[in-house]
Amino acid sequence: MTRGINGYAPRQPFIDFHNRAERWAILVCHRRAGKTVACVAELVLSALFTKKSDARYAYVAPQYNQAKDIAWMYVKQLTADIPGVQYNESELRADLPNGARIRLYGADNPDRLRGLYLDGVILDEFADMRSSVWGEIVRPMLADRKGWAVFIGTPKGHNEFYTAWQGAQDNPAWFKLRLRASASGLIDPVELEDARRGMTDDQYEQEFECSFEAAVAGAYYAKDIAKAEEEGRITDVPYDPGLPVFTAWDIGYSDDTAVWFWQMVRGEVRVIDYFAANGEGVEYYAKMLNARGYNYAKLGKLPYLWLPHDAAAKTFASGGKSTQEQFESFGYTSLIVPMLSVQDGIQAARMMMPRVWIDRKKCHEGIEALKLYRREWDDDKKIFRDKPLHDWTSHPADAFREMAIAWREAQPKKADQPAKFETQVSINDLIKRQRRKRLETE
Ligand SMILES: Nc1ncnc2c1ncn2[C@@H]1O[C@H](COP(=O)(O)OP(=O)(O)OP(=O)(O)O)[C@@H](O)[C@H]1O
Ligand SMILES: [Mg+2]
Repeated sequence: MTRGINGYAPRQPFIDFHNRAERWAILVCHRRAGKTVACVAELVLSALFTKKSDARYAYVAPQYNQAKDIAWMYVKQLTADIPGVQYNESELRADLPNGARIRLYGADNPDRLRGLYLDGVILDEFADMRSSVWGEIVRPMLADRKGWAVFIGTPKGHNEFYTAWQGAQDNPAWFKLRLRASASGLIDPVELEDARRGMTDDQYEQEFECSFEAAVAGAYYAKDIAKAEEEGRITDVPYDPGLPVFTAWDIGYSDDTAVWFWQMVRGEVRVIDYFAANGEGVEYYAKMLNARGYNYAKLGKLPYLWLPHDAAAKTFASGGKSTQEQFESFGYTSLIVPMLSVQDGIQAARMMMPRVWIDRKKCHEGIEALKLYRREWDDDKKIFRDKPLHDWTSHPADAFREMAIAWREAQPKKADQPAKFETQVSINDLIKRQRRKRLETE
């Protein structure tokens, strides 16, 4: 290294990374290896020594708060001795005197990135990001100026990060590095042993030995998805116009909305499509449904949707109308999925799983989310909490739960079958009950 920035001495394994010539890089590194520091340093080095005018660099973390809490501090430390550097705290942006800018983003709000160009980007903890962020948003931004990209993180099973790692192996356009704690020498052995004691074997293998094969710690559906994969149930699942299409929704008013589309054939649940968007209103979703043009299942003359219980609540933001009522004004009626605890909902999804066929292409992002959806880890007590981690996987997973409950409601019930769930009612009861309720309130 001949170039330097504010007291930064790269850790030995990252020297080759800073000196690479490849446009693309993938680094699979253990926890606490110094990934985030190395990445931020790479952005600062690039911004400082670029010959391009108005160069733009970005750091993307899975969540905006992570960028703000950790990487922003590193940006300021590593740029502190650059004369004339200016910081924009509200945008998490550092402007260098040569016109180059470094800005931090969260993959939980990727739309902020749209419409810009980039000369270089770091995707930190890529395994925790929704898969569409790269292909739909970041990659096109690099096209104008032939920008570079770095994918970095610890493995999370066979997800998009794994696919990228596999794809990079025999490709000379990629710089690749896998850093295992047992070999990197970056963590004190006593410290490492202490970490091991507080983790399951799978967790340790994943977090410190960078194993893509270890079971994703705390994942709810990873095994079910792996089984579906093995049995060839994640494949082309074509739409059959002769059969009705059902939709189950998780609606985010300020964040993500996710929708699963399925058809039912002789006991099989055929998931033909998946859709997700961020921060849109009901009109947008009604148009999305119209554009798909499926033969939606009907109640009377109107196509109907399975909506979550909060869709019945009236909100001030939408002029005192509920989501359910708003959908009605666009010609879609709906049923509210009975409310179950998260645990019971997950149980219902697991019961449905063996019957599920999912379209590999159209549902790609939804499948990735289901693989990764997992329990929250309590780092103090070293145990999993009994609730799901809230991240980008929550919305698709919640919609999938809604779908499982809706699917189960639609099953013919045997009279002698004991009710497994308190809310077990027939679909006809449900329709009657919801109609009655609505008449009462009108
Ligand atoms: N080149 C370096 N010189 C000195 N200290 C460093 C260097 N790189 C990283 N560190 C220190 O090591 C610790 C871990 O760094 P960093 O946050 O970059 O790791 P990480 O691999 O991103 O960890 P995590 O897996 O928790 O995200 C921090 O305390 C950081 O200040
Ligand atoms: Mg980090």
